[in-house]
Amino acid sequence: MNRKRSTIEFDDVEVARERLDDESVVKHTPVERSTSLDDLTDGEVHLKMEHLQWTGSFKPRGAYNKIAQCADETDRVVAASAGNHAQGVALAATKLGVDSTIVMPKGAPQAKVDATRGYGADVELVGSDFREAMRHARSLVDDETTFVHAYDDPAIVAGQGTLGIEMYEDLPDVDTIVVPIGGGGLISGIATAFAELSPETRVVGVQAAGAATVPDSLQKGDPVALESVKTIADGIATGGISELTLSHIQAHVDEVVTVTDGEIARAILLLLERAKQVVEGAGAASVAAIISEELDVAGETVMPLLCGGNLDMTMLQTVLVHALTDREQLLRLRVRIDDRPGKMEEISGVIAEHNANIQTIRHDRSAPELDVGEAHLVFQIETSGASQARAIIRSIRGHGYEVRHVNA
Ligand SMILES: Cc1ncc(COP(=O)(O)O)c(C=O)c1O
Repeated sequence: MNRKRSTIEFDDVEVARERLDDESVVKHTPVERSTSLDDLTDGEVHLKMEHLQWTGSFKPRGAYNKIAQCADETDRVVAASAGNHAQGVALAATKLGVDSTIVMPKGAPQAKVDATRGYGADVELVGSDFREAMRHARSLVDDETTFVHAYDDPAIVAGQGTLGIEMYEDLPDVDTIVVPIGGGGLISGIATAFAELSPETRVVGVQAAGAATVPDSLQKGDPVALESVKTIADGIATGGISELTLSHIQAHVDEVVTVTDGEIARAILLLLERAKQVVEGAGAASVAAIISEELDVAGETVMPLLCGGNLDMTMLQTVLVHALTDREQLLRLRVRIDDRPGKMEEISGVIAEHNANIQTIRHDRSAPELDVGEAHLVFQIETSGASQARAIIRSIRGHGYEVRHVNA
């Protein structure tokens, strides 16, 4: 790897830590063992639960460190974000007695707008996408107003680095830490802390496959930007890093892996079911990495960082439907019938004999492969899992029907 000199030093992180010494802005978040993840990885997994931070993510760390340094000469800070940065800046500014304006794209989820206002910010809804919101936010900057970038700022990087000190204190002998990467501010700070405190710890970055820019940026030696991104992990969907963060990644990060949305969805569900934690896609990416083929942590003590918990309820529904369908706990069966009275009742009865619950039934005569007088009945069924699903299909076939398993 081509190693450039990094821009912030460990001293900057230590100074940020002194600034952040206020439990009402940043609290020391817990670490929990997960024996379920031990079994899945053959390692010893300690989850760093930063999703339980104020505002639901690590973002107040960097924002507070930045705003504290300009609070004397600025009346107002401005940022563009539809996500966690918005809430982090709003909380930090309010705590420091500085006004804040957060520009969000017009389609931003109401829950995020409300949360950001709740932390004391003025929210302006401008533009149809993030780029337009960003352009407007930049236009608001003048002598009395300071722009707070989400990652391309040494003060932000140093603030996020305080999480690195905390992770080291929580588990000084950790072999591998796993940190999600969007714009790279988070991993830059954490890796700088570990380079000083425990250089033998392996620092692994994770990106979503549909928004991965670091592997190409490392290869090229310059930040590479993507025209468009596609991932369920919106917190790490920045589509680019900066020269500042690339130089820290070059200097201190040992490996960068990518995970698919399917792997992230599985990790969200595992964290819900086994660890009883609500973690958003970006936060679950670290767990997705250790249970994927991409990263081997067998025999190691490993600390995946759960860096955010603001999981959108619509996203949760999508993830659940995807996972339940995968496990055949949600089953959609298409049965070809002679379109005569009594057929729906007969097949429903077969399903009921298996104690499975029918959610919906759709009757369809329009499919081109059907003969005159035939129809499809499409049953959406809740089952206990794959073996019950197979038993139901066998029973319906046993009654002489053609059955197909179709996707939900
Ligand atoms: C939950 C969560 N995780 C990770 C990241 C990535 O942080 P960075 O952009 O500093 O790499 C973000 C950024 O918004 C985030 O919200």
